[in-house]
Amino acid sequence: MTSERKSIHGQWSTRLMFILAATGSAVGLGNIWKFPYITGENGGGTFVLVYLLCIALIGIPVMMAEIMLGRRGRQSPINTMKTLAEEERRNVNWIWLGRMGMVAGFMILSYYSVIAGWAMSYIFRTASGVFVGATAEGVSSIFADLVSDPEKLLAWHTIFMAMTMIVVARGVKHGLEVAIRFLMPALFALLLLIVGYAMTTGHFMQGVSFMFTPGEISNEGILDAMGHAFFTLSLGMGAIMVYGSYLPKGTSIVQATMFIAAADTIVALLAGLAIFPIVFANGLEPGAGPGLIFKTLPIAFGQMEAGTLIGTTFFILLVFAAWTSAISLIEPAVAWLAENKGMNRLHASVWTGVAAWFVGLGTIFSFNIWSDKTWSIPYLFKDYTLFTTLENLTFNVMLPLGGLFIAIFAAWLMRESSSRDELKTYDWIYRLWRILLRYVTPVAIIIVFLKAISII
Ligand code: TRP
Repeated sequence: MTSERKSIHGQWSTRLMFILAATGSAVGLGNIWKFPYITGENGGGTFVLVYLLCIALIGIPVMMAEIMLGRRGRQSPINTMKTLAEEERRNVNWIWLGRMGMVAGFMILSYYSVIAGWAMSYIFRTASGVFVGATAEGVSSIFADLVSDPEKLLAWHTIFMAMTMIVVARGVKHGLEVAIRFLMPALFALLLLIVGYAMTTGHFMQGVSFMFTPGEISNEGILDAMGHAFFTLSLGMGAIMVYGSYLPKGTSIVQATMFIAAADTIVALLAGLAIFPIVFANGLEPGAGPGLIFKTLPIAFGQMEAGTLIGTTFFILLVFAAWTSAISLIEPAVAWLAENKGMNRLHASVWTGVAAWFVGLGTIFSFNIWSDKTWSIPYLFKDYTLFTTLENLTFNVMLPLGGLFIAIFAAWLMRESSSRDELKTYDWIYRLWRILLRYVTPVAIIIVFLKAISII
């Protein structure tokens, strides 16, 4: 295979464009909403450590593999896996890796959009000034009012999904650049500002020690940390693969990956450093669950100098970050519909978006009218609502499983000459990558899985 394949969906105009888009995909609600709340639920310290280890030993090698497979196959993940399996003379069933990813992305989008809707409604809530001088109880009850109102949630969910469909319909390459080049650094700067505020609460060190002092962790906590490493880097379902399929040949996959992983991790750690001191200064519970940032950050905005302006801007930027992530969740499905079903991008995005919107209703109702509809499966989970089921199924099962198979395909089944040709890096980096992906990644994923279901 010497002649290079071309993507029918076009290419990124520059190398920077890919890095921006992939960073835009990685940095999102996962970093600012999810990381603090699952760190809190899992008791801090050790969780953060395991998460960092998973980023380094699993996330980074898998990301390189995903980008590489995408760029070599140059199609939607489903067709990329089909083409590469044929080219490497492997079983055609590898196509299922692409299929599972497409379904996972779709499921994630269904609830991602609901949470992004919360952030959107907080733009207006913060701007209205209700948080000025508000107490921790006041802020918590404002959050409780929002999630108990299905109509409000539905309206925001609908708006966010429509925004996502519009960008995807136009092709992810247009309009992303400005959004990411300027808004992402702005988000970063505001986070720093909030961390600055957190330092004045008198509980900053308590927050730091909660995040970095090792303590207890359960097996499920370890699974959460691993699942989160996939989630936050957008791995395991083909989002980064499809972005890789638009990547021009000469770009260094290794450098791009290191940048994306570093940026993503720094944003998550900053979010934690912003939130935990506020949690402790106000006597809140670190394990407050998915509402954590909405119950803590507004307190800071209510007390800071120019807090209303800062807070409003913060939530606007958070919505942008969520938006640039959400589009990567349906891009694999849209690319596939365009390739195989002859749909144009507009139709493909509308179909996928509307379907994900519909599934999202289940998440909305999980916080109110269906909040008592829960189920349990012994050893696997207990009292899950529809939302927690979707959330855990995707990030604790589907993404790591996707990552496991990507690792097996890229490091065991693909010829060394193929992967060397794509990665084009120093020999020692290549070898290290292959060793990690052959041995460390799969073994770690399997052990964590088995532990979580109490088999070992
Ligand atoms: N990484 C994004 C975040 O942290 C979410 C996301 C976008 C994602 N694309 C993905 C997660 C693909 C898993 C797979 O918010």
